[in-house]
Amino acid sequence: MLCCIKQWTILFLKKMGDNMNNISVIGIGKLGLCFALSLEGSGYNVVGVDISKSYVDSINNRTFFSFEEQVNERLQKANNFLATTDLDLALLHSDVVFAAVATPSLPNGRYNHTQVESLVDVLISKGVQPKTKNLVINCTTMPQYSESVYKRLKDYNWNVAYNPEFIAQGTIIRNQENPDMVLIGESNKEIGDILQVIYNRMTKNEPKIHRMSLTEAEICKISLNCFLTTKIAYTNMIGDIAISSGCDPQVILDAIGQDTRVGTKLTRYGYGFGGPCFPRDNRAISIFADDNGIDAKISKATDSMNKLHLHYQVQQYLQSGKKEFVTNSVTYKPESTMIEESQQLAFAVELANNGIKVTIVETPVVIEQVTNVYGNLFTYLEK
Ligand SMILES: NC(=O)c1ccc[n+]([C@@H]2O[C@H](COP(=O)([O-])OP(=O)(O)OC[C@H]3O[C@@H](n4cnc5c(N)ncnc54)[C@H](O)[C@@H]3O)[C@@H](O)[C@H]2O)c1
Repeated sequence: MLCCIKQWTILFLKKMGDNMNNISVIGIGKLGLCFALSLEGSGYNVVGVDISKSYVDSINNRTFFSFEEQVNERLQKANNFLATTDLDLALLHSDVVFAAVATPSLPNGRYNHTQVESLVDVLISKGVQPKTKNLVINCTTMPQYSESVYKRLKDYNWNVAYNPEFIAQGTIIRNQENPDMVLIGESNKEIGDILQVIYNRMTKNEPKIHRMSLTEAEICKISLNCFLTTKIAYTNMIGDIAISSGCDPQVILDAIGQDTRVGTKLTRYGYGFGGPCFPRDNRAISIFADDNGIDAKISKATDSMNKLHLHYQVQQYLQSGKKEFVTNSVTYKPESTMIEESQQLAFAVELANNGIKVTIVETPVVIEQVTNVYGNLFTYLEK
């Protein structure tokens, strides 16, 4: 198999003549792998870099399995996608390098940029590039971080862009190919033009492309998610008010949503917001605001309302007198396998801790994650 992969690499490199058609993606995890496949699907030759050899091998020999929609099918068909642990190969392959490494949250709520920093260190160690290179940061970052990357890289002949993805787990490729809008933060026009061409080719729905400075795009990314969390928190707050006064929440919310200034999206009463993006971005904007002397009370209130709503839901259930609760989804959204900050799971935990017998009917991969954290707090049934 190794020999096969080597032959494939050689064949792949032979296609490199047309550099405009080549793109590299550093960090082919949940987001980066989907992005690489979306690019490949639109005709680019893509090299994806990751650090784990066994992971890279499993992608190259097509034994890798993903729960994410479309990934397995696309991977089987992707003749122009090569994974590697060799960053030099990626830099040789293309002048456009997307970075989709992880930026986990620190305990204080800020994004941890360590993985991006390590990548930038390596890029600098390669010296001044003979031909201009373009680093496109896909990761979620604190505002002003990408500008600091550009300051470090510009003397080495690198342009920098900040280009976040507005995707949800479970529908990542669909979202990447059909975005409501494309956000491009650019250190200069050259890199913005390059990205505009790539997105015009990769997207299927002709989205509006918004170009701005690096920091404006970083603020825009987390502010957009702050708006969405605020809308969800508002919906649930109105719903809680309705229920507490003996009314039907959805009757009220459906009517409110008919006002075109509000719209019907995110006006369905239910669980609070969770997952890998919404809660983190909502907190990050208020931290950045604090840094700048602004008290972002809306983002803070949204965070507290999400917790209050969970508390209200739990109290409602306890007061109903029911002794059992059965749920067939504890991920943060049904299409996903992620339990990060899942309010559905938090609800189940609270009930179980209050003596309710909770049965979780889920896929094996979700049951394994929940069992690792909560052991036998629940009864589990496989879907
Ligand atoms: N997953 C999402 O739903 C989502 C949505 C929006 C934004 N984002 C952002 O996208 C970024 C990536 O998120 P993710 O969920 O794909 O993370 P992930 O942990 O699934 O993937 C990151 C990958 O980068 C690899 N990596 C780390 N350092 C590397 C290096 N030096 N060279 C090559 N590979 C390296 C890791 O091995 C891993 O496979 C984060 O900033 C995240 O906040 C993610």
